[in-house]
Amino acid sequence: MKIIITKDYEEMSKEAFKIVKDVISSNSEAVLGLATGSTPLGLYQNMIKDHKENGTSYKKIKTVNLDEYAGLDYSSDQSYVYFMRHNLFDHIDIDLANTNIEDGKAADRIKECERYTKLLDILKQDIQVLGIGSNGHIAFNEPGTPFGSDTHIVDLTESTIKDNSRLFERIEDVPRQAFTMGLKNIMHAKKILILANGKNKANAVYGLVKGEVSEACPASVLQLHPDCTLVCDIEAAELIK
Ligand code: F6R
Repeated sequence: MKIIITKDYEEMSKEAFKIVKDVISSNSEAVLGLATGSTPLGLYQNMIKDHKENGTSYKKIKTVNLDEYAGLDYSSDQSYVYFMRHNLFDHIDIDLANTNIEDGKAADRIKECERYTKLLDILKQDIQVLGIGSNGHIAFNEPGTPFGSDTHIVDLTESTIKDNSRLFERIEDVPRQAFTMGLKNIMHAKKILILANGKNKANAVYGLVKGEVSEACPASVLQLHPDCTLVCDIEAAELIK
């Protein structure tokens, strides 16, 4: 795994942007695997700035997102589809028809997982952007998720519900289930870019880089990926220096 340690969040976001920009520059039809959450917001701001200042075009770019809360769709501003439009897609020239995310409101959740897995087999990510949960989760693959998993429904752990409750009015409002790309679907990306910042991610970053490769720490599977880069700030890197 390649590791880049930066002095702060701003520098982490700039380094991440350079890596994503390289992929887009070498292939104007690239498939970008994207994440929600606080961590990639700075990366998305850099992408928007670059689009506006340098005209980098996303017209032929396709995207696949990691996950979505079960029961939420664009009509809820807590949904991940809303997050992506609000924080990235509405500010670049991407065709929304080329953006993909699980349908949180799908009537048949099992069928929806199958549909998304089939789609991912066709839209293999040229790069997959990831954040990491404080318990080592990637996407919503919580500790104990099999490395061979495809898109599936998860019951969120108390720790993830607590982490994510900051974005909701009340902790009771956080959905208890979500759709997520499986670890197998993440690992088939050609390139992986995982980002982490802040002290509360230091343990998870240790598990990602130096821990035993074990389903107890889902992110540790990335040690087996042939082209994975971690960009993290000095606080998140505290235990791997
Ligand atoms: C988001 C996702 C999650 C987050 C992780 C970190 O699509 O799949 O795994 O990447 O929970 O979240 P933040 O960045 O908010 O700390």
